[in-house]
Amino acid sequence: MKTFIDALPKVELHCHIEGTFEPELMFKLAQRNGVDLPYDSIESLREAYQFTRLQDFLDIYYQGMNVLQTEQDFFDLTWKYLEKSHQQNVRHSEIFFDPQGHLPRGVSFSTVVNGISEALKQAQTEFGMTSELIMCFLRHLDEQDAMDTLEAARPYKDLIVGVGLDSSELGHPPSKFERVFTLARAQGYKCVAHAGEEGPSQYVREAIELLQVDRIDHGNNALDDPQLIRELAQTKLPLTVCPLSNTRLCVVDSMEDHPIKKMLDHGLRATVNSDDPAYFGGYMNENYYAIVDSLNLGKEDIITLAKNSIESTFTTQQRKQDLLEELSHYASNH
Ligand code: HPA
Ligand code: ZN
Repeated sequence: MKTFIDALPKVELHCHIEGTFEPELMFKLAQRNGVDLPYDSIESLREAYQFTRLQDFLDIYYQGMNVLQTEQDFFDLTWKYLEKSHQQNVRHSEIFFDPQGHLPRGVSFSTVVNGISEALKQAQTEFGMTSELIMCFLRHLDEQDAMDTLEAARPYKDLIVGVGLDSSELGHPPSKFERVFTLARAQGYKCVAHAGEEGPSQYVREAIELLQVDRIDHGNNALDDPQLIRELAQTKLPLTVCPLSNTRLCVVDSMEDHPIKKMLDHGLRATVNSDDPAYFGGYMNENYYAIVDSLNLGKEDIITLAKNSIESTFTTQQRKQDLLEELSHYASNH
């Protein structure tokens, strides 16, 4: 099964570029930029990656991104992720970035977006790998801050396919950003939101009804509401599920208890993703291995998950068609 997963043509829909920051690169860039890290070695930094909830992780995640300063830094970060993903046969990726993690530090929007975008262009040329960018709003900050960020993105609209909502979920419901999402949608952005990771099923409902999202990021706790399950099964609204993230952040007790199999059984459009692979112990393949091992998934389930991802992309109809054909060819030959 491992070799089947390795060579499977995959699509990733939920990966924070700042969450792909491996300690080796972090130390290298810290030295290049003359930034002091509060860890004396790569090992001691890795040892700090012990989380009992989302906020534990976020504190370390924001600390790590302080190292990123120049366009070259954002290029290097993105390029490492793309090389790794290409090795794992990821054919298309829709990548989150957090402008509000950078703008207040004096790093300009153009530095961030241009650095990331140059790497995406190079991956298309060198690997034939395609991608899209999704700008996330940090939900622990206020509505006006998100509005200002949407405005700052205006000159870069052509490089950004959608907007999302991430950071500390509890106490920051989707309703807080209803007006921002209404504006973003009117400007032509696709909309997604993290919901039901630590927050209740009500947050998933708000994301759907108030933010009118095109996908839900995580969505685990939607399973607490039978009516919501029926609606998700009917609308096929995609869920971008992140198995290793969920166990590392103690959102689920163990991989054996992971809800992704139940989601498939209910007919929900669940997909597999890595979230913050440098922090949670694995990229796309490792996430697939984890659920296959713990939930006894078969090849049919894996193909369903891979197909769900393709059908949930924000790419062109042509690219979607090509990816579906590549998958279908793979499925019939393996
Ligand atoms: N949840 C919320 N915010 C995030 C995450 C996550 O898993 N990763 C990066 N920002
Ligand atoms: Zn996430």
